[in-house]
Amino acid sequence: MLNRRRFLKLSLSAGAAGLGTGLYTWKVEPHWLELVTRPLPICGLPTSLSGARLVQLSDLHVGPRVDDSYILETFERVAALKPEIIAYTGDFISNHYDLFDHTERIYARSPHGRLATVGILGNHEYGRAWSQPHVAERLAALLRAAGIEILRNSVTEVSGLQIVGLDDLWAHHFDPAPALEMVEAGRPMLALSHNPDTVDLPVWNRFRGWVLSGHTHGGQCKPPFLPPPLLPVKNRRYTAGEFELAGDRRMYISRGVGHVMQVRFNVRPEATVFVLESA
Ligand SMILES: [Fe+2]
Repeated sequence: MLNRRRFLKLSLSAGAAGLGTGLYTWKVEPHWLELVTRPLPICGLPTSLSGARLVQLSDLHVGPRVDDSYILETFERVAALKPEIIAYTGDFISNHYDLFDHTERIYARSPHGRLATVGILGNHEYGRAWSQPHVAERLAALLRAAGIEILRNSVTEVSGLQIVGLDDLWAHHFDPAPALEMVEAGRPMLALSHNPDTVDLPVWNRFRGWVLSGHTHGGQCKPPFLPPPLLPVKNRRYTAGEFELAGDRRMYISRGVGHVMQVRFNVRPEATVFVLESA
């Protein structure tokens, strides 16, 4: 039987452990960025891009809930890598619609790729209830002025690699047909689509290859050996990391850099450094 002193000791230890975990979840892990390096095999990759690095930055969520210093430090770490391509996969801000000056100031210091800097919009760029396209227009203009080529259901080409940039699903602006019709089959290609659920829609006929995605933040908190309980996707399989898809496609979901709520547990934020190679 527990005597009173032992009970008190156990309670205090449990309390201290709980407090420690809480502090870690709030103050440490949300700003403990991991640079994840992995290969990105692409069919028909031009030899000039073999070994080139593409850094994916997703879900930065610039705004009052993410420390500016953390974002700027992340920008510096990525810039120091001098990657050939940087791809931003949406949720540049959190849905605070009156912080254009703040957003402009931060993204004026965003890192650029040596060959290209591209980006797509996420749901948070669309304002209240993801339903204010004028907010998205203004943000897209601001980001373009900061040197990021914002693709909205369109295609760009970087040294022979076709990059398809799709607009956001929740904002009802995901409309891939015009972009996918422009893609030339048999040539190297890559797609950016913020919301992982988009890969399950029957729209990808002509597309083969990788889709880089974000949106989930990996669930932000994940009990060991169990899936994260909170995921903003229909397909509960889509947490984070690599997924094999039908139709000769693969998806990579970044855990993202920022957060909406400042909590992360067992789901560190990431910037992904892809090393391009011929498949
Ligand atoms: Fe997000």
